[in-house]
Amino acid sequence: MTIDLRDLEGLETPLYYYDMRLLQQTIDEITTCMSGYPYSTHYAVKANCNPEILKTIAGAGFGADCVSGGEVRAALEAGFPASEISYAGVGKTDAEIRYGIEEGIGSFNAESVEELEIIAEIARKCGRKANVVFRINPDIDAHTHHYITTGIAENKFGIDMRRLDDAIKVVTDNPELNFIGLHFHIGSQITNMEPFELLCDRILQLQAKVEKAGLKVKVINVGGGLGIDYDFPDMHPISDFRHYFEVFKRRLPLRSGQRLLCELGRSLVGQCGSLITRVIYVKRGVEKQFLIVDGGMSDLLRPALYGAHHAIENISAQARGEREQDRYDVVGPICESADVFSKSELMLKSRRGDFVAFRSGGAYGESMASNYNMRNHPGTYYRY
Ligand code: LLP
Repeated sequence: MTIDLRDLEGLETPLYYYDMRLLQQTIDEITTCMSGYPYSTHYAVKANCNPEILKTIAGAGFGADCVSGGEVRAALEAGFPASEISYAGVGKTDAEIRYGIEEGIGSFNAESVEELEIIAEIARKCGRKANVVFRINPDIDAHTHHYITTGIAENKFGIDMRRLDDAIKVVTDNPELNFIGLHFHIGSQITNMEPFELLCDRILQLQAKVEKAGLKVKVINVGGGLGIDYDFPDMHPISDFRHYFEVFKRRLPLRSGQRLLCELGRSLVGQCGSLITRVIYVKRGVEKQFLIVDGGMSDLLRPALYGAHHAIENISAQARGEREQDRYDVVGPICESADVFSKSELMLKSRRGDFVAFRSGGAYGESMASNYNMRNHPGTYYRY
């Protein structure tokens, strides 16, 4: 991605800087990899719900994967067709379910047998039918950070495979429910293709079971999870979508008329965004130096919450041709010890006022921002 210092002069920081050209190139690459196959991407809105980003992705003809009534509304406002919205989430409220039914969304991805019963009840009251998909917990370890692993047995997501028969019974007993398919998601920031291969095998087993009960699987949703290169974003600005889709092309033969959906989030928007901050102080401690920037965990929570590391660049020092390097603990202004971006980071020698970029912040950056410490929501800048 390109960050031009001239764009930044005069702008208030912290802000999210979006390279819209990189976003478009990423979209184009995904489109190319899917072409010729009955594949569609339902973008995982949770990764970034900025209206400009949503509009660009909707404009590419993608659908949306939502996890709350708020996300469904944002997706509709951005122009995603209701029929291409899938709605997952373990705790959909009655009001959210009613809203989805009234808007005619493409599917409710039910995460429990209990939820299926409530969807049926609400659909009945509304005098409408609801398309439902079973989100099944496939019990596959994606070998990623324990906070973002979702597909192993003991976690809260999805219908346990052992309760599949109960789920089937609810849809066969309730004519308001129109069963359309199966949904899986095994975790996030996955860079090794093996878990996706295992997922394909599991999907085929479960499909056979569902079909045996007389249900037709029109849609197979393989979830999201493809990772990005946080260490070297400029070396790999676009994830390896070719290999990712090849797994499904090879290992998941589709029946005639069947569609495959995937819910890419991070890999679609991660590299197009950077959090731009300015150095407020270079504070000399006894044994270390702190680079105190004006953005913090309220703007980019990933380092504090997951111990994630984002590549850090001093754009002003690069522009002035600074050669000397120094080590800094790069921290935000928030009153929490966890408000640290990186410890002992080797960087170009930095000064007060310098622009410092935290790269690969397009996914789960702005969307996880908060107003903690009564701070403003970070600003935005779009480079077209
Ligand atoms: N589908 C479902 C059902 C999901 O739960 C998720 C992400 C996705 C798709 C999109 O996954 P992706 O392609 O982005 O990996 N805040 C964390 C990530 C949480 C992911 C939650 N679910 C982070 O910053 O690393």
